[in-house]
Amino acid sequence: MTTTLIDNIGLLVTHDDEREQLADAALVVADGEVAWWGEAASAPAADERIDARGGCVIPGFVDSHSHLVFAGDRADEFEARMRGDRYEAGGIRRTVRLTRAASDDELLDRASRLVAEARAQGTTTIEIKSGYGLSVEDEERSVRLAATLTPEVTFLGAHVVPEGVDRDDYVDLVCGPMLDACAPHSRWIDVFCESGAFTADEARRILEAGLARGLGARVHAGQLGESGGVRLAIELGAASVDHCTFLSDADIEALAASTTVATLLPGVEFSTRQPWPDARRLIDAGTTVAIASDCNPGSSYTTSMPFCIALAVRDMGMTPYEALWSATAGGARALRRDDVGHLRVGARADITILDAPSYVHLAYRPGVPLVARVL
Ligand code: NIG
Ligand code: FE
Repeated sequence: MTTTLIDNIGLLVTHDDEREQLADAALVVADGEVAWWGEAASAPAADERIDARGGCVIPGFVDSHSHLVFAGDRADEFEARMRGDRYEAGGIRRTVRLTRAASDDELLDRASRLVAEARAQGTTTIEIKSGYGLSVEDEERSVRLAATLTPEVTFLGAHVVPEGVDRDDYVDLVCGPMLDACAPHSRWIDVFCESGAFTADEARRILEAGLARGLGARVHAGQLGESGGVRLAIELGAASVDHCTFLSDADIEALAASTTVATLLPGVEFSTRQPWPDARRLIDAGTTVAIASDCNPGSSYTTSMPFCIALAVRDMGMTPYEALWSATAGGARALRRDDVGHLRVGARADITILDAPSYVHLAYRPGVPLVARVL
């Protein structure tokens, strides 16, 4: 067994209850896990040494929401929105046409590059959803390809009703043959519960079918307006409800009393010019908040968790530490993982070393590539 000492750490963020941050620190990795951390002066000997050069060391980012299996892009829609057009969920169908026409190799190549792009920016765990296939074969292929890149695969056949298909027939298809084909490659099931996509009643049927197959539930809700999706997610014990831009006081109270994480997606508000979700209101109410990229070609074409952190701090009322926590430990909670998102002893050694003395620089120096190394 080889041990590695990460030395000369200006600031170490562990998210440990007793010592969440520690200056002038060192950390030892053994067998792919965090084996020790503490003051640099008392570090044990190790086989190899990595010099953090006085930088800040943080847990790798846990991006708990992305849609990386797609072809083409929708830069024209973004451009039109920047001239004043509204975001419409219907744009998803354009990406569906292009995705269906692409080969497996093209889709996997694009998704792999996006995963590499995310990793270069400090992401070490990423969830990937299907949702641009919307037929049994195309959804099965999306989750199958995603499963070669991450264990956190989400079946999102219920993204929108595809062109030319009756909605009741489509819900039956999603709950039946499509779920049968996709469940073996997936850990999660998700529904876009929003006007223009699926109603809360349809979402309930689909999520219950997935739960009965042993998948965990996640829900897209509150992106374009208040919907019953937030309450439904809580009622079904979903791990996470994502977007949460529009929430009533009662939604927030219910979230705070639940085990469902509220996942905020700042790249979406940036790219759609929607109002910012109020993270402060959620945190002050006692809700667990995650931040994720939602990387997709329509509403948020970024893989950068540092960019999302900067937006959350600047425009959503989070402190830099809260935003870092939400992008690491919060994402892990949203995926019901306790081995990632922190650097307590025993955690997976998924570590991001910054070329900056503090995580505050992630928001303070927006747009600057501050990730020096990812383990
Ligand atoms: O999370 N909201 C639904 N799905 C994506 C957008 C997909 C698209 O516009 O292509 C989202 O924002
Ligand atoms: Fe999404």
